[in-house]
Parts: sequence; C-alpha cells; structure tokens
Amino acid sequence: MSVVIVVGAQWGDEGKGKVVDLFTERADVVVRYGGGANAGHTLVIDGRKLVTHLVPSGVCHPGKSCVLGDGMVIDPQVLLDEIAQCQTRGLLMRGELLVGLGAHVILPYHKLIDGLREDRGAQTGRAIGTTRRGIGPAYEAKAARKGVRVRDLAKPARLRELVAANLDELAPLIAHLGGVAPSAQEVERWIDDALAAGRALAQHTGDASRHVAHAIGRGQHVLFEGAQGCLLDLDHGTYPYVTSSSTVAAGACQSAGIGPTAVGAVVGITKAYATRVGAGPFPTELHGEAGDRLRVAGGEFGATTGRPRRCGWLDLPALRMGARLSGMTSLALTKLDVLAGLSEVSVCVAYRLDGKELDEPPIDLDDIARAEPIYASFPGWGTLPSAARDVADLPAPARAYVETIERMAGVPFCLVSVGPDRSETIRLRDPFS
Ligand code: IMP
Repeated sequence: MSVVIVVGAQWGDEGKGKVVDLFTERADVVVRYGGGANAGHTLVIDGRKLVTHLVPSGVCHPGKSCVLGDGMVIDPQVLLDEIAQCQTRGLLMRGELLVGLGAHVILPYHKLIDGLREDRGAQTGRAIGTTRRGIGPAYEAKAARKGVRVRDLAKPARLRELVAANLDELAPLIAHLGGVAPSAQEVERWIDDALAAGRALAQHTGDASRHVAHAIGRGQHVLFEGAQGCLLDLDHGTYPYVTSSSTVAAGACQSAGIGPTAVGAVVGITKAYATRVGAGPFPTELHGEAGDRLRVAGGEFGATTGRPRRCGWLDLPALRMGARLSGMTSLALTKLDVLAGLSEVSVCVAYRLDGKELDEPPIDLDDIARAEPIYASFPGWGTLPSAARDVADLPAPARAYVETIERMAGVPFCLVSVGPDRSETIRLRDPFS
C-alpha cells in the first residue's frame, strides 16, 4: 500500500496532526490537499507545541518531502511565516517543501470580503462562521477563472492585470458589503507584497503533480493529509455550512493531480467525542456545563482562530456518512483520554425522523433540525494508562466503548490515541502495509 489518504471523519479538528505525524515515519512524501490557512494542526513534539496551517503536519520529520497540492488556496505571507517558524526549529532546512505552481493565492481582498460577509451575516443570522481567512472568495475567483495562481507571483505584469480585473468586479461588492474599496496605493502595496512573497517562495515552487506521480511510480510511500473533515465538503457536507473545497478523500486525487487507482488506503480520523466550529447542524452538541467540561478537558479551542469549539457526544451516523463518502478502510480514534473521569459516556447510534430510524444523518437542513438522536450510554472510566499499547491495556469500560464504536462504525481501527504525545498511542495496523 504505497498511497494512503488521511481525512477528518466529521467537521475537522479530529486530531489529524498527531496521526499524520505518526504515519509520516513510514512515508517518503506528505501532501496537503485542499483548503488553506483555515486549517490548523497542533503538534506536540517532545513536549513542544508547533501549530501549522499550510505546511503538512509531516514537516516534523526532516528529509521527508512536503507538498502543497494545486487544489489549495495559499496565503503567501502565512506560508512564509510558517516556513520561518519551522526553520527556527531546524525543520525544512533541506529543500523539503514543494508548493504547486497551480495552487491559488489568497490576496488581502479575499480576506476582506470573507470578513465583511461574516459581519453582515452576524447581523442577519446567516453567518457561516468561517475562519475569515479568505478561503471562499479565493475559491470563487478560481471557479470564475479569474484567480491568481502561485505561478503568477513570478510575473509582475500578469499579476497586476489579474488583480486589476478582479478588483474591477469586487470593489462594488466590497462597498455593497459595507466596506471601503481599497485605494490605488493600497492595491499597489498588496501587489508589491505578493511579488516579494513570490520571490521568497520561488525556491519552493514547482510541478507538484509530476513530483507526486514520480514518487508513486518509484514505489515510494505517499501520505495525503486532508484538512477539515468529510462533512465540511463543499459537495457532500452540511451545505451551506461547509468550507469551499473537496475535503473527502477523492479531493486528494483532484488536488494533487493523481488518478484514483493509485490510492491504496483511506484512514479516517475521529475523536472519541465530537466537535464543530462555526455555524451549522450539530444534533449531539452538549450545552452548558457538560459541553464546557469537554471543551476544557480536550483543549477545544480553534488552532487557527482561537474560537471555542462546540462540543458534544460522538455521532455514529455522521461517522458512517464520513466513512462512506471517503471510502475509509480504517479509522484512527483520538483523544480517548479526554473522556476519562466522566460518570457516563453517551454515543448517538442512529436518528429517528418521521417514525423511521436512520443509520446516517439526514442531509437536508430542515430534516436534521427535526431528527432526534438516539443515544446509547456507557459507564465511564478513570485515567487511562498512558503506556497502553493494546486495547486490552485499557480499563474495561473504555475497552467496551472502543470496541462498540468500531463495530457500529463498521470500519476497523488502525490506531487509538490515549494522550497528546507520540508515545501515548495504541498502534493496531500500519496503513502502509
Ligand atoms: P472557511 O473554510 O473559513 O470558509 O469556513 C467554513 C466553515 O468551515 C466554518 O464553519 C469553519 O469553522 C469551518 N472550518 C474551516 N476550516 C476548519 C478546520 O480546519 N477545522 C474545523 N472547522 C473548519
């Protein structure tokens, strides 16, 4: 199995950073696909935290090739800051980073529009709760075939022409949304900044699709690192409360420009409970003290925006849906330790709607608002042994919880994480074997 895709099974923040970091031990190439600086991966290496937004979590293994696929939308300044942050830790010193020349560029006006729409949405009750990183507007420009790509940063005349054409259309929109259209001086500064960033990034850019294809051709291990989660997928998620890219496993092929026949395995990541950031349906959400407890115990605050994440019980129908959408071949269960100390742990096993039991959540927003989660409850457990190396090492109630989730999700576990550190992991199957 030389090509493995890792995806978040639900609404993102499932703990992909740690899992990708572990799998990278066996990978030669790690490819981030889709999205941009809306993602945030928190890695704890030897007790030190590193937060990445664009660079794949595999960065912590020097010498492994780290690729940003053509399907991404990249904020050049964020990327440069991140490269610098990695380099102060001795990472990315050997030319490991390759940014696809076809990836799109996020410019200040994308972020401006994203923020203005959210502000307006907050007044009308229609906000998506985006990260305000300009993701949606940059993908809109791409779909309209007006986007600025990484390759354009090396061509001053072309960049100027593209920015002018974009702003010609967007200035009225900015004003309509209550913003101030940028002055000519400001636009000139944006262009100068983008060109400077382009010069600094030039050494890291290239043909990402061919690079990945050659690696696969040589039989190297390639790991695709998804951002966000399957239910935030633009086509298949809880639209319109989704992000603007393909977050399901198929998005890896699309973004990196490889065929689906190359893929050997798809690993879904799910926490032992559920979280969501931003607006949108979340039927198993816990409000009040119960939700606060999970939030604090799990450190559930956005790595990108610092927003408190909404917390709730694990939603097995949503997990089944994510598994189906991405064709998951195994699952990694993370943050089991966060549930320690609860007297009882619940899991949504199905939904009831109009007298019928559903094994996946209804996708229509009105239906999901009416659907009633059906819960199963488990006795709680105390602190987990951080030295657990097998499910059999877990306290009996935690073991029963893990085994029931695995059975009801219908996908075998390849890993169970019992703490934030690399060592606090039960490894069951190597996705590359
Ligand atoms: P956008 O991707 O910034 O446009 O935000 C759209 C929706 O996706 C919002 O609900 C965000 O909170 C959510 N979102 C985007 N990126 C992430 C992520 O990495 N983790 C969790 N939620 C995310």
